Amino acid sequence: MRSRMVAASDTVFFSGHTMKVAGFFLLGLASVFSVQRDNFRTCDNVGFCKRHRALEPGTSSYAASASSMKLNPTSVSLDVLEKKSDVKFTLTIFGLKDNTFRIRLEEKDAMRKRYEPPVGDVLIKVPEGEELKYNGQSGNQLTFNKGTSRVVLTTEPLRIDVYSDDDPVISINSQGLLKFEHTRPKPEAPPAENQDEENKEEAQEGEEEQQKEEEVKEEEVKAEPEEPDMWEETFKSHTDSKPFGPTSIGVDISFPGVEHVYGIPEHADSLALKTTKTTDPYRLYNLDVFEYDLYNPMALYGAVPLMLAHNEKRTVGVFWLNAAETWVDISSNVADKSIFSNLADFVTGNNEIPQTDTHWFSESGVIDVFLMLGPGPKDVFRQYAALTGTTPLPPLFSISYHQCRWNYNDQDDVRTVDENFDKFDIPYDVIWLDIEHTDGKRYFTWDAAKFPNSIEMLRNISSKGRKMVTIVDPHLKRDDNYKVFAEARDKGLLIKNKDGGDFDGWCWPGSSGWPDFLEKHVRDWWADKFSASEYVGSAPNLYVWNDMNEPSVFNAPEITVNRDIKHLGGWENREVHNIYGMYVHEATMDGLLKRTNYQERAFVLTRAFFAGTQRTAAVWTGDNMGEWSHLKISNPMIMSLNLVGITFSGADVGGFFRNPDNELVTRWYQAGAFQPFFRAHAHLDTKRREPYLLPDENVKVIREAIRARYTYLPYWYTEFFTSEKDGAAVMRPLWVEFPKEKATFGIDDNYMIGSALLVRPVTDQGATNANVYFPGAGEVWYDVETYQTYKGQQEVNVQAPLSKIPVYQKGGTIIPRKMRPRRSSTLMFDDPFTLVVALDPKQEANGQLFIDDYRTFKYRDGAYGFIKYSFTSHKLHSNVEHQGSGFTTKEWLERVIVVGLPHEPRKVTLHQSGQTKELIFTYDSTTHVLIIRKPGVNILQNWTISLH
Ligand SMILES: *[C@@H]1O[C@H](CO)[C@@H](O)[C@H](O)[C@H]1NC(C)=O
Ligand SMILES: *[C@@H]1O[C@H](CO)[C@@H](O)[C@H](O)[C@H]1NC(C)=O
Repeated sequence: MRSRMVAASDTVFFSGHTMKVAGFFLLGLASVFSVQRDNFRTCDNVGFCKRHRALEPGTSSYAASASSMKLNPTSVSLDVLEKKSDVKFTLTIFGLKDNTFRIRLEEKDAMRKRYEPPVGDVLIKVPEGEELKYNGQSGNQLTFNKGTSRVVLTTEPLRIDVYSDDDPVISINSQGLLKFEHTRPKPEAPPAENQDEENKEEAQEGEEEQQKEEEVKEEEVKAEPEEPDMWEETFKSHTDSKPFGPTSIGVDISFPGVEHVYGIPEHADSLALKTTKTTDPYRLYNLDVFEYDLYNPMALYGAVPLMLAHNEKRTVGVFWLNAAETWVDISSNVADKSIFSNLADFVTGNNEIPQTDTHWFSESGVIDVFLMLGPGPKDVFRQYAALTGTTPLPPLFSISYHQCRWNYNDQDDVRTVDENFDKFDIPYDVIWLDIEHTDGKRYFTWDAAKFPNSIEMLRNISSKGRKMVTIVDPHLKRDDNYKVFAEARDKGLLIKNKDGGDFDGWCWPGSSGWPDFLEKHVRDWWADKFSASEYVGSAPNLYVWNDMNEPSVFNAPEITVNRDIKHLGGWENREVHNIYGMYVHEATMDGLLKRTNYQERAFVLTRAFFAGTQRTAAVWTGDNMGEWSHLKISNPMIMSLNLVGITFSGADVGGFFRNPDNELVTRWYQAGAFQPFFRAHAHLDTKRREPYLLPDENVKVIREAIRARYTYLPYWYTEFFTSEKDGAAVMRPLWVEFPKEKATFGIDDNYMIGSALLVRPVTDQGATNANVYFPGAGEVWYDVETYQTYKGQQEVNVQAPLSKIPVYQKGGTIIPRKMRPRRSSTLMFDDPFTLVVALDPKQEANGQLFIDDYRTFKYRDGAYGFIKYSFTSHKLHSNVEHQGSGFTTKEWLERVIVVGLPHEPRKVTLHQSGQTKELIFTYDSTTHVLIIRKPGVNILQNWTISLH
């Protein structure tokens, strides 16, 4: 969270209140303006962006040498020459397991090593190779086969085409936009004269060869004129020294046959990405953007350079592994058919084959691209998960409801809020404290006047199974008496400015330093700060929230650290910028896990993120606004995060800035109740809006929404468990479930949770109805409240008064729920289940349930239950597929609801262990709903219920 800080030297016009904070103004929320776009660089302010964007499609000046080819069992490498500069590169193509390729291009004789995230940090391990067979050369084309896929490498001009089952699916450098800025010595000014002198000196040193090299370099300078911003760049009052000169890389990647591409968060934009012809490219650069604007490609807090391309036939993914600032241009086109003309099925029929062309460029690093060929969306999820890992099963409390505000002022305030939730019968699991709870923004401390008894406060909420989250940001107040800072400084753990001194920037506490989380020993040091003895006043039910970890620096360019600051390993921030925030939350999670010797699962929320973040933190979409448009965009933003593996994500319910009216708050709760991470939050200057403060009518609706969330926790929990294994999105765009249904490709206001629930949150002011798209030819959908049915493959305008959340269960699914309202999810651990069996037109349904102790890692040793349910031929079967040795539960089955049953059964019986018992039931012949009461069996048992 942040308010708006503006350097005193900047001219500011506003109509709000100000607070002078040590030379800075803290501008209140009453200010009328939104994002200050001119705080942030556009492509025009970024030298390398301009240079790459200015390239015209055409013949690539890069050529691979077939004779240099080195074949290995799972990879092939070749020399590549950039012909204008004579600079050499190495191209390597790797065959990887599970329909995946990796393509790397590196400079051969680089003057300086380029940054690559260490294996284990983004990639969970060295990806497993798979045999790549050389299939011979034809003209200037080399072909390599792997399974049913093949790579065709054209040596000159260099391009790479990837085919899957004979369909062209991805094409690299077919437009010839490859540009790899090689490392070079800094030319003396003016270049021409001094270059000669330098040559003389070098020649005198003797080596003939060296002179040749220098001559080559001289040619380069001619061929590729130096531009002024290659060695230094200025933005506003900040100058970026670029001691290593231009180091950017970029290439075009095309998707023949594709009109829809998704992913590359974080942007406040639609789910399907737009062409960038008339805008800047989509920008990936972790930034703290105050009051961000919607529907534009500006960078936000996090970055995952993973794009999915989808059509009716296939889904593919491209993962651009690079931690530097990255931009992606997107354009739509008609496929370059001449290239694929040897493919009969491609040429016949359609004349106009659509194609999406993308152009990726980063400020530094190497070209390292993973191509995941699906063929389905869930295959791409799995393929990407094999590279970067998945979201581990969250503890149950963390997928329940969270109550946050900047700030709950003191421990009495916390107690009052806690009591009010109980008084108004609204469940919640976690209460949050923002920066004001600390002693002067010194994290790991408490304001002693406001929280004299934090341990007792934590114990009090824990008696109801509740937890607390406190904020711990990475900026450390420069104060000799602040132990955490003094230690970090004395041990040399802080990031450095370009001249080698500790970097000094402004953030919430004023002058601050930032630990260099890129270093393992710094992360270990940080992790220890969460132990009970170091974090005095904490308790085991306290968890943590990392904000401002882009990192946000109020007085630095683009509100983040200068690009030329130095990390301890010698890297400049420009090389590692997008990965810093992930290391912060990773170290935090490690600290929380260490407290219990890795026995209990923990919870960390982060604002900044990168590829791999899913392994250690949940993500929220940052400082949104209490406006209808921000409610609406929360759905595509969270879906985009889910597509790139960050399944545990959400948006501030109610909106962070501004005062939403009661209707908007209510609608936002309804939406949040069906998004993966469900937390209300509000800015310091907003009116109090805890749900019980609203008028009765709204309290009632919000209570129902939050309770609905709790009734579906078993379903969410099971989805998170399966997603840990297969990496699948939990909150899914419709096309993920209906990949052949073109009408779904552009939809981002309806979505699925898992495969069974369709959700269409109402996001329009005053709306009393909503258009719902029901996907799937031949499918039937049931309103989860009224059981009204809707046929698939149609849009229907449904009634949606304020009390209504349009949620539908797909026919053919079985959803486990817990229907007894409690104060927190912990108090529901032993509660009985209700199974909702929604029949498809064939009168069948399937479902599953995962249960464990809801909080520890014992499930990883098998201590859990996994039960499969199936309904067929009028019989519902429970099959315990897994019951870990020693794992038992008190949970039992209290009710079965069968929806879509056309006739009332005469009799319902339960068969278990050779015994038969008759069950009581009711049947509603207008809604076709059968309710079977009290089967009474333990949930971890096999049984059959028969309808006669
Ligand atoms: C803890 O709960 C007790 C009993 O309600 C109350 O008297 C006390 O003030 C609470 N302590 C804190 C720190 O909230
Ligand atoms: C329950 O059914 C599963 C699958 O049909 C079987 O493997 C398991 O042994 C059964 N468990 C019991 C307790 O009968």
